[in-house]
Amino acid sequence: MRRLRHNSRIRRLIREQSLTANDFIFPLFIHAGEGIKEPVSSMPGQFQYSLDQLSSVLDELVSLGVLGVMLFGIPAEKDPQGRDAYSEQGIIAQAIRFIKGKTPSLLVISDVCFCEYTDHGHCGIVNEKTGHLDVDNDATLPLLAEQAICHARAGADMVAPSGMMDGMVAAIRQGLDASAFQHIPILSYAVKYASAFYGPFREAAGFSLEFGSRETYQMDPANGEQALREAQMDINEGADMLMVKPGLAYLDTLFRLKQAFPGVPLSIYQVSGEYAMIKGACQQGWLDEKAVVLESLTAMKRAGANFIITYFAKDVCQWLMEEKG
Ligand code: PBG
Repeated sequence: MRRLRHNSRIRRLIREQSLTANDFIFPLFIHAGEGIKEPVSSMPGQFQYSLDQLSSVLDELVSLGVLGVMLFGIPAEKDPQGRDAYSEQGIIAQAIRFIKGKTPSLLVISDVCFCEYTDHGHCGIVNEKTGHLDVDNDATLPLLAEQAICHARAGADMVAPSGMMDGMVAAIRQGLDASAFQHIPILSYAVKYASAFYGPFREAAGFSLEFGSRETYQMDPANGEQALREAQMDINEGADMLMVKPGLAYLDTLFRLKQAFPGVPLSIYQVSGEYAMIKGACQQGWLDEKAVVLESLTAMKRAGANFIITYFAKDVCQWLMEEKG
């Protein structure tokens, strides 16, 4: 047997993975208020947008063929319960209605979590009575269901609970089904690691933790097998698809899930810190941006991702278009 070294046509013929515009979801940060298009300094090229500034990026996404967006809200006001997240007049409900009205073809996935909406920055409500300041898992569940229903009512095509609360998928499924949203799928952030790669997201989504840490509910980066249990639980609770997050450092986890649950659609989130790392090096001229982005994303598909949430979604779709000519 000879290795196929040189012939680029043969290489293309036997290539196992290729990227298409259908593979990508673009995260969008929506800021309450008006006239805001605020650059995120630790994520060059990314912005927080108020709704009145959103049209041009929506048009751009559609014309590039990007399939959908994942929405994060920065509300005008935060409180201990994160009420804005499940209010009809909240920033995300408004954003979903706006996007679905303007660009109905764009798939809208809403992040269902509380960290951007609570004044303490945790992913759920905090039980002050017990004295130990930690998230109250069970008290958060009905509010997550309420949030998902609110987003579905506004027109979300899919909800993505990201808070890693136990029982969140079941609670949201029940809530959606009881409100005539049986058809809305749940993309669960089943395997979300307590990662330092979320650093720039704190600036982008405008929040910080006032106390404690997320290590009580996010997964230890040292663990791989635990991911299988987390995934199994979410599948049992009715998750339609799963996500692994962050991306590049956790491809082994994604691969494990693909082997263990071959029929379950999987996604991976190339997070803010991964974006910042690539952008930072490329701005110095130390790496070739297009090459490293395409290589990283192809590796994610090779590891088992059906789709990828990435801040590079627009760039990749642009490059794919240019290659087609
Ligand atoms: C939680 C959430 C986070 C991210 C997505 N959803 C932050 C966290 O869990 O601390 C991070 C995404 C990124 O870093 O790009 N709602």
